[in-house]
Amino acid sequence: MAKIALMGHGVVGSGVAEIVMKSAQSLAKKAGTPIEIKYILDLRDFPELSYSDKFIKDFDIILGDPEVSVVVEVMGGLHPAYDFVKASLQAGKSVVTSNKELVAAKGAELLAIAAEKHVNFLFEASVGGGIPIIRPLHQCLGANEITEIAGILNGTTNFILTKMIREGSTFDAALAEAQRLGYAERNPAADVEGMDACRKICILASLAFGSHIYPDKVPTQGITQITPEDVQYASDWGGVIKLLGRAKLGGDKKVQIAVSPCFISRESQLASVDDVFNGILVRGDATGDVVFYGKGAGKLPTASAVVADIIDVLKAQDTIATLHWKDGDGSNLADPDAEELESYLRVSGPNAAQAVQQAFGPCTELHRADAPAEEFACILPAMAAALRRAKLEELEARGIAVLGSIVVAEV
Ligand code: HSE
Repeated sequence: MAKIALMGHGVVGSGVAEIVMKSAQSLAKKAGTPIEIKYILDLRDFPELSYSDKFIKDFDIILGDPEVSVVVEVMGGLHPAYDFVKASLQAGKSVVTSNKELVAAKGAELLAIAAEKHVNFLFEASVGGGIPIIRPLHQCLGANEITEIAGILNGTTNFILTKMIREGSTFDAALAEAQRLGYAERNPAADVEGMDACRKICILASLAFGSHIYPDKVPTQGITQITPEDVQYASDWGGVIKLLGRAKLGGDKKVQIAVSPCFISRESQLASVDDVFNGILVRGDATGDVVFYGKGAGKLPTASAVVADIIDVLKAQDTIATLHWKDGDGSNLADPDAEELESYLRVSGPNAAQAVQQAFGPCTELHRADAPAEEFACILPAMAAALRRAKLEELEARGIAVLGSIVVAEV
């Protein structure tokens, strides 16, 4: 009998408890031993639950109980999650977590402690909700050098964009529904400002490229500036707007990494990833493109990934050596200002078309119905981000308002 402790009984934690109790027999077969949740740590009381006797409020009870071999952290946030996870690993307990903030901030350190103590620190649920992506990256795709990862990594923003495009919902109404469905972070700014997607691309890139990439090193932009007009122009161009996390290995072995809304072609496999679904494209030197698709948020999809990690921990004889990266200082990152991409531009002002062409040279004009006479939109040729920014500043200095600027991603 394996005894585990669950830290957090929110959306994901309650899903983990539900699956562990409902599927006890099949999980016992898969793990090679029955699984019992001995404790659930939560500050709240849940007297209505049939398992209300398991709730505790003191982490030291878990830490001090030698029967507990696996700690499942689904509290979210950095503190106290980091302190509890670190102490658990140091005490020789394996840890399973869904906490992307924790892994993105402390992954290298916690993996090193797990290895030193011959236990495991697993976090399949931290990226892509129910989609298997961490395990495929370090196991199934182990024969490859990964050259690029690009993904729709945030279910909430994808849900919002889909609702705005398909149903004409307002941003606020779509966000409120995402919150009601349990997709959004406690502070949904982390979703809509791109931080959540940033943490996830950092985790994937750290694993794929071998050294820790910290979120504060990654240029990050969310979806709050996207307007229905931009969506119409994307459609005229032949594509859609998606919030992408992108990480690409250059010929110089530097990683170009960013999070931002992107124009992507309708032909892209990511273009039809809608609602709360996530899609992650992994390019390997042997496999070519592999695309992972599934529900990126929500109670049971995320709990499914947590429970799969619990099974793996219980089957493992030692630390899983392939799930590893070293600490990083950012020296393996390419200069974001040097990234050369095409981009969409929407401006407004007197003689806007002429001003844009004077600044940028010839560009491909885009159209939408009922555009005001002073509005102009086009696809600009590929140029370095720094040069584009300087030219946009020039335009604004000449009285042209920049209403939208979105890079074109080839994915
Ligand atoms: N808020 C996150 C999302 C939850 O919307 O993708 C899953 O990580």
